[in-house]
Amino acid sequence: MKVFPSGFRWGTATSSHQVEGHNTNNDWWLFEQQPGRIRCGHRSGAACEWWRRAEEDFDRMRGLHQNAHRLSLEWSRLEPEPGRYDGHAVQRYRAMLRGLHDRGIEPMVTLQHFTLPLWVARQGGWENPRIVGWFAAYVRRCAEWFGDLVGLWVPINEPNIVVALGYLDGRHPPGAHNPVRARRAVPNLLRAHAAAYHALHDIRPDARVGTAHNIRPFDPARPDAPQDRWIAGVYAQAFNWMWLDALQDGRAHSVLGHWHLPECAGTMDFVGVNYYTRDRVRFVPWRLWAGFVRRVPAPEAELSDGGYGEIYPEGLYRAVREAWRRYRRPVFVTENGLPDADDDVRPRFILEHLRALHRAIAEGVDVRGYYHWSLVDNFEWAEGWTLRFGLIALDPVTQRRTIRPSALLYAEICRTNGLPEGIDNVEGLSRMATKRR
Ligand code: GAL
Repeated sequence: MKVFPSGFRWGTATSSHQVEGHNTNNDWWLFEQQPGRIRCGHRSGAACEWWRRAEEDFDRMRGLHQNAHRLSLEWSRLEPEPGRYDGHAVQRYRAMLRGLHDRGIEPMVTLQHFTLPLWVARQGGWENPRIVGWFAAYVRRCAEWFGDLVGLWVPINEPNIVVALGYLDGRHPPGAHNPVRARRAVPNLLRAHAAAYHALHDIRPDARVGTAHNIRPFDPARPDAPQDRWIAGVYAQAFNWMWLDALQDGRAHSVLGHWHLPECAGTMDFVGVNYYTRDRVRFVPWRLWAGFVRRVPAPEAELSDGGYGEIYPEGLYRAVREAWRRYRRPVFVTENGLPDADDDVRPRFILEHLRALHRAIAEGVDVRGYYHWSLVDNFEWAEGWTLRFGLIALDPVTQRRTIRPSALLYAEICRTNGLPEGIDNVEGLSRMATKRR
C-alpha cells in the first residue's frame, strides 16, 4: 500500500460558471451568445444547477469519501454592479460553504475563475489597471463574509491561461489575438493577486493564500535540436515560471515582458498546481501566428478525448517537484483530470498520476492535497459540453447523474488515504466499492 501523509486532502475541483447555471451577468455568458465562439453552439445554460441544489452533489462527494472541495465564488453574483453587493448571493454561498463543512468536506475557495462581471469587462477587464482596486475591494468583502468558513484561498485561477486563451489565441473572452493587449493584462493579473493576498491577510491573518497555476512541462520535439530546446525553454518560462517567480520575489521576466512588482513578493503561502498534460514543441520559424511552434505529441503517446492532450503522468511528478525545488512552499494539486466520456482511461489515469504524485512525496515534496477535475461533467468553456471531465456523468438536459467506475476507484483511494495493493484490479474494486455504498 502506498500511503499518503496523514491529513491529506482528497477531493474534486469545480468553478462557479461551469456548474452553477444562469450566470448571466458575466463576460462568459455574453461570449456564449456570439455565434462561432463555443463548439457546437453549446451554452452553459443551467450547467449542473448548483445555484439551486449544489448540496445534492455535496452528498455525493461525502458518499465518495472526499474530504475536500475546491469551488469558486462568482464575482458577478456577489457584486452585480460596482459597489452594490448582493446579500442573497452572500447567504447562498455561506449556506454552500456550511453545507460542505457539515459533510466533513473542507472548502478551498477560488475568488475568480475565468469570469468577470460585465461591468468590469465593459471597462477593459484585465487590461484596465483599475481592476486591481476593484478586485481588492471585492476580495476584502469576501474575507469578511466567508473568512470564518474558509482557510485556503486562491485569488485568481490560471492567470497564464487567461492571457494565452483570452489575449493570444482568442478562444476565451475577450477573444483577442494581440500580444500588446496580452502584455497589458499580465501585470494587472499579478498585482490583483498581490492585492487579494494582502486584503485576505489583513482581515484573516490565519488565511492561507496560494495559486491554482496551470503548469505544463515543455519538451523539445527533437531533443537534439538546439532550436527546439530553446523554444521549449522560452515557453516554460513564459507560461509556467514567470508568474510564480513574480509571487516569490516580485520580478517577472519572460518573452512577454519584464516587470518589477515589489508588492507581489512573498504572496504565495502555497503553490497550487493545475496539471493536465505536457507539450512537445518543434520550432517552426514561419509559424508566427502559432508562436513559432508546432506541437507534436510523442509517437507512442496516448491522447485523451477531443485532442485535449497527451496523457503523461510523469508530468505531474515533474511539475510538483519543480514547484517545490523553486519555491519551497507546500504544494496542492489544485486540478488534474482528463476528458473521457467512456471512462475507459480515467481509472488508469488516476492511478498513474497518483503513483507519480506519491513518488514526489516519497522524495520529500510537501504535497498537502489532490483535487480531481472534476466531480461532475460541466460546461467546458469553448469546448461546451463536448468534453466530459466528471467522475460523475451528467446529462445536462435531464440533469440525470451516473456514477462512473472511476468515481468508485477514487473513493477507495480517498477512504484509505492511499493506493491499496490490488487497486489495479479496477473492476473488482468497483464491485467492492459499490457493495460498500
Ligand atoms: C482548467 C480550468 C478548468 C477546467 C479544466 C479542464 O484549465 O481551470 O476550469 O476547464 O482546465 O480543461
